Amino acid sequence: MTELILALDVLTREEAVYIADKTAPYLDAIKIGYPLVLGAGMKIVHEIAGLGLPLIADFKVADIPNTNKLITEHAFQAGFSAIIAQGFTGSDSVEACVETAHDYGGSCYVVSEMSHPGALEFLSGENAARIAKMAVECGADGIIAPATRPERVKALREIIGSKKILSPGVGAQGGDAKEIAPLIDGMIVGRSIYNAEDPAKAAEEYSFIRR
Ligand code: C5P
Repeated sequence: MTELILALDVLTREEAVYIADKTAPYLDAIKIGYPLVLGAGMKIVHEIAGLGLPLIADFKVADIPNTNKLITEHAFQAGFSAIIAQGFTGSDSVEACVETAHDYGGSCYVVSEMSHPGALEFLSGENAARIAKMAVECGADGIIAPATRPERVKALREIIGSKKILSPGVGAQGGDAKEIAPLIDGMIVGRSIYNAEDPAKAAEEYSFIRR
């Protein structure tokens, strides 16, 4: 079954704890990125980890190998169980994240193609395919691919085989949950859940769609 991953991009500890607590029964994992850790500090990771769900660090790590390693170590020490790295930096930088994640018993996902319109300017088509291939060669656990472009997800699946595809872009960015769910391993949903009048109900509805 396709997993449901909440993108918890709220800005305060209070909102994060409230939303995570209400939606947790319907989720398989929570993705935390810069909006929340810059707003509430890294200690929020430890607090949300208390819910018992896997936490994915969406830091889109994109630096030289040594800096990537240091960032990834911080993430796993804080309580994350997976990290997202950019692929355009090249195989040595990606390998640093993958190896460090695996040293901690965690996972690393590589952004192959992003979900917003501007992503088409640089990170699509042949370049995205090359990144996906490189991610597999580096031993990454999967890739990030856009729910807004199912035909691209299908093309990237041909390249990565049984590695996982986590896909953001459903709901607020226009991606169709029903269409994308059968093509991917994890559906990442942010605003359509945490901005909903009833976040728990919204999460429950998405949890039915992905079956
Ligand atoms: O609110 P929404 O559902 O659009 O949230 C999507 C989440 O996925 C955000 O945290 C965004 O940063 C992230 N993301 C994305 N596209 C990518 C990679 C990550 O939208 N290619």
